Amino acid sequence: MPYEGILKEYGHLLDLPAHTLPVALLEGNTPLIPMPRLARELGAAEIFIKYEGLNPTGSFKDRGMTAAISEAVGRGVKTVICASTGNTAASAAAYAARAGLRAVVLIPEGKVAAGKLAGAIAYGAQVIQIEGSFDDALSMVVEITKRTPLALVNSINPYRIEGQKSGAFEICDVLGDAPDWHCLPVGNAGNITAYWAGYQQYAKIKGTRLPQILGVQAAGSAPLVLGHPVEQPETIATAIRIGKPARGEQALEAAEESRGRIIAASDDEILAAQRLLASEGVWVEPASAAGLAGLKAEIEAGKFDPNGKQIVIVCTGHGMKDPGIIADSMPTPKLIPAELGALEKLLGV
Ligand code: F0G
Repeated sequence: MPYEGILKEYGHLLDLPAHTLPVALLEGNTPLIPMPRLARELGAAEIFIKYEGLNPTGSFKDRGMTAAISEAVGRGVKTVICASTGNTAASAAAYAARAGLRAVVLIPEGKVAAGKLAGAIAYGAQVIQIEGSFDDALSMVVEITKRTPLALVNSINPYRIEGQKSGAFEICDVLGDAPDWHCLPVGNAGNITAYWAGYQQYAKIKGTRLPQILGVQAAGSAPLVLGHPVEQPETIATAIRIGKPARGEQALEAAEESRGRIIAASDDEILAAQRLLASEGVWVEPASAAGLAGLKAEIEAGKFDPNGKQIVIVCTGHGMKDPGIIADSMPTPKLIPAELGALEKLLGV
């Protein structure tokens, strides 16, 4: 049977209403890439990257969006709306287009990476910038969906979480069990909530073990580490530039119940982790490198013993989502005449 997406693959394990009408772009089934050099460098037994950038719109959001849009279509919804730091916007726009729905996305002014904005526009969404943060945009879409027939497709929508549980199922199916540790970035806290729910569900029905969860926020946007909302979140990892995570309580529960923790990584640590991943062939957007940034900092600080551990790090979005991060610091490629001699001279061969 050809692969048909996560509702076909795991629909029987997802709590979706009977009226759900599958809308798929063959999301999920993303690679779990072994990283032997990284594992050696950090002193772990095995490290795998769950490379979510290979979803149809370039981020993990497609797992939850197929479920949320499928449910919305089945209920007769005509317009969906979300607040977004970019990836949710692109994903909502794509699945709405696929389903023939109108999509409206609210984004924080000037803080959305080019690849995400371009995607949302390409898929035909109505993109609206607001003079405020993601958190302000989220409050607005929550309010408007209470008053109007517009359907909310942020991860407050429970079907988003149902779809995103599939990431945990795939990891267990490939490894034959859950890993010792599961590291991932935390923004609005939907994904950590979904992974923990997925691992728990598999433990119950398949007898797999439970991983410890390391959630990583960006230091300038770390409400769950600080223990209070952050009014003006800042970070180069714009995807997780969030000061009031909608599922913050559940994220803290996931960390505690799994005997894990939520920590913060600095922008410099995040960018260094992005470079480290790329040096082994995996290019991700900055927020996606936060899981590794946090893990590496914990190991270097002696707070995490990697010895003998099998670790999965979720890289949530593709590097091409945020080309500006690289382009802005990139040296202009050397210009030479179109002559072999010039090339040989430059290469020293
Ligand atoms: N990584 C990336 C690349 C993201 O886009 C996001 C969230 C996260 C991690 C954090 O996931 O919110 O479930 O904790 N992006 C949202 C958006 C907020 O609008 O695209 P989370």
